[in-house]
Amino acid sequence: MRIEGAVVLITGASSGIGLATARAFSASGARVALAARSAQALEDLVQELGGASVALALPCDVSDPVAAAELVTRTVEVFGGLDVLVNNAGIGHYGSLIDAPWTEIEQVFATNLFGPIHLIRAAVPVMRRRGGGVIINVSSVNGRRALPLMAAYSASKYALNGIADALRVELSRDRIAVVTLLPGAVRTRFNTALLGKPPSGGRRGGPFPSSPERVARRIVDLARHPRPIAYVTFRDRLWVWLSLLAPRLVDLMLGRVLRSNP
Ligand SMILES: NC(=O)c1ccc[n+]([C@@H]2O[C@H](COP(=O)([O-])OP(=O)(O)OC[C@H]3O[C@@H](n4cnc5c(N)ncnc54)[C@H](OP(=O)(O)O)[C@@H]3O)[C@@H](O)[C@H]2O)c1
Repeated sequence: MRIEGAVVLITGASSGIGLATARAFSASGARVALAARSAQALEDLVQELGGASVALALPCDVSDPVAAAELVTRTVEVFGGLDVLVNNAGIGHYGSLIDAPWTEIEQVFATNLFGPIHLIRAAVPVMRRRGGGVIINVSSVNGRRALPLMAAYSASKYALNGIADALRVELSRDRIAVVTLLPGAVRTRFNTALLGKPPSGGRRGGPFPSSPERVARRIVDLARHPRPIAYVTFRDRLWVWLSLLAPRLVDLMLGRVLRSNP
């Protein structure tokens, strides 16, 4: 995929990884459509990136199926097509699956899983007509190894990974690549914006977090050269391998962390 001149739709572009990704694609010459709920943050970003000819603010809650499909329609109306979809908008959840309010669990799945599904269903017909495209789902290492007290969040990412595995094969004949990116800890507001009530007010993220700019560079690189499953750091990859090879050892490690930092 040639990024210069490409049309890229990024969800969750008001903050963190999505914001850095919007800047990175824009710096590479792409036109970017930016979605999130915070309208003012998106408008500010459009101005920063050079105005309406290269960037488009699309305030939206991705968990609303009609609004999510409208993101694709507006992107095509304004920029004439869609080449890359980055499903990045997401929300964390802290708390026991047993005790958490059901509305919180529903919101996690509506945002992290159903949002990307709405977007993919709207984007694929457009990409088919254009002869191809790239879909990048920002998942998590927690979608390969669930964390205690983050069952709902982790499960939403497992499901997202499952969808990508199926669609990758289905859509290959349409020349649409489907990429799953599995970041570990990233330095964003994510852990303080969690649904649920961590005792400290914000869950401590993993050690040695990556910068959102590093994740953004990886995402742009994956749009250029798609691969099925991708990581940001070798440490993230190692964690997933260890979880698969020695699940009981990882249970013990996570149990110790949980007891010392509930
Ligand atoms: N930070 C980490 O350690 C980490 C690790 C692995 C994976 N991830 C994944 O990376 C992605 C981005 O997270 P981040 O770390 O950049 O966190 P963040 O700074 O909190 O950004 C989350 C973005 O999602 C948007 N968003 C949330 N709910 C939305 C909704 N219903 N509709 C539209 N937009 C919505 C937020 O914008 P508004 O509030 O304006 O809507 C914001 O732009 C998430 O999918 C997360 O699961 C993060």
